[in-house]
Amino acid sequence: MERIRLPTLIAGLSAATFLVVGLAVARACEGPAAVVQPVAFDHSLHVGDVQLECAACHGSAGTNRHAGLPSIRVCAQCHSGPSDRPELAKVSGYAARGEQIPFVQVNRYPGHVYFSHRVHVSLAEMSCGECHVDVARMPRPYSRPDASMQSMEDCMSCHTQYGATLECLACHQ
Ligand code: HEC
Ligand code: HEC
Ligand code: HEC
Ligand code: HEC
Ligand code: HEC
Repeated sequence: MERIRLPTLIAGLSAATFLVVGLAVARACEGPAAVVQPVAFDHSLHVGDVQLECAACHGSAGTNRHAGLPSIRVCAQCHSGPSDRPELAKVSGYAARGEQIPFVQVNRYPGHVYFSHRVHVSLAEMSCGECHVDVARMPRPYSRPDASMQSMEDCMSCHTQYGATLECLACHQ
């Protein structure tokens, strides 16, 4: 019969304790805060009425870890001239100065969580709406994280459903 050696056991236990304590501390340090975006971007208009694909603005989702926020060059294709509407005038102002619009990313897990868009979008062939349930109907930009993607349980329940990994170290690196 195989005996578990004490040093191995201690090393295993302390690694697990380190992970759990470390993650709990990381979580306690986060503070929720509502963000004011620099331009009042409307997803429902651009996705619903203008009928742009998600990939037109978040083109890295299929190939990279991050989906990314759009470059001003995308907006400038349609919004470069002057406008008397303040939000549009802001956009063409950024375009004319060749500056990026400083949108703030709000859906971001703490640094100990590893999430890759490429794995989910390309390998598992999921549509954006499976996780970002409400964005296509949102008339206002994000000020807080998406309620649909907040907890570890949300990741775990879909992983259980698809038979994907439940290993701590797959998601915590
Ligand atoms: C394919 C063309 C297209 C692209 C690309 C595009 N838009 Fe628009 N956008 C539109 C149209 C069409 C409207 C509606 C204009 C109207 O109501 O007269 C609009 C409206 C807007 C408005 C005005 C909303 C209001 O109520 O005044 C803002 C702000 C805006 N877009 C921001 C952006 C930003 C930021 C980007 C880049 C991330 C972008 N748009 C990319 C076509 C586009
Ligand atoms: C015309 C460009 C455009 C299109 C098309 C577009 N988005 Fe966006 N998206 C933006 C901009 C600009 C922001 C940053 C402002 C905001 O939060 O709304 C953003 C933000 C987001 C965010 C939040 C990022 C964060 O702060 O965490 C998600 C999620 C997102 N988009 C998903 C989608 C999905 C899914 C689709 C397709 C249904 C889509 N977007 C279509 C321009 C676009
Ligand atoms: C399996 C769930 C899932 C799917 C499918 C998914 N996302 Fe995400 N998305 C997330 C999570 C989780 C985050 C937060 C990522 C982080 O903390 O780094 C996120 C963040 C984002 C952001 C913020 C910026 C960034 O790069 O992280 C954008 C924009 C976004 N997603 C767009 C999309 C688009 C567009 C699609 C479809 C092509 C898509 N997502 C598909 C879960 C998903
Ligand atoms: C809607 C379902 C769904 C959600 C929600 C989801 N995942 Fe996944 N995830 C999958 C599937 C399916 C795979 C297997 C992809 C493949 O390899 O084909 C996967 C694979 C992964 C992998 C790669 C594992 C490996 O084999 O290397 C990681 C890491 C991961 N997911 C992290 C996350 C995190 C973190 C979250 C929550 C923020 C999350 N996932 C939410 C369905 C989901
Ligand atoms: C499929 C991905 C995934 C797997 C597998 C996973 N986690 Fe997580 N975990 C997350 C995400 C995402 C968060 C961040 C949730 C948040 O910020 O609200 C998180 C947060 C945590 C936290 C911080 C406190 C909390 O409850 O939010 C701890 C501790 C933790 N995980 C431990 C573990 C342990 C131990 C395992 C293995 C039994 C594990 N995780 C497996 C995705 C995962």
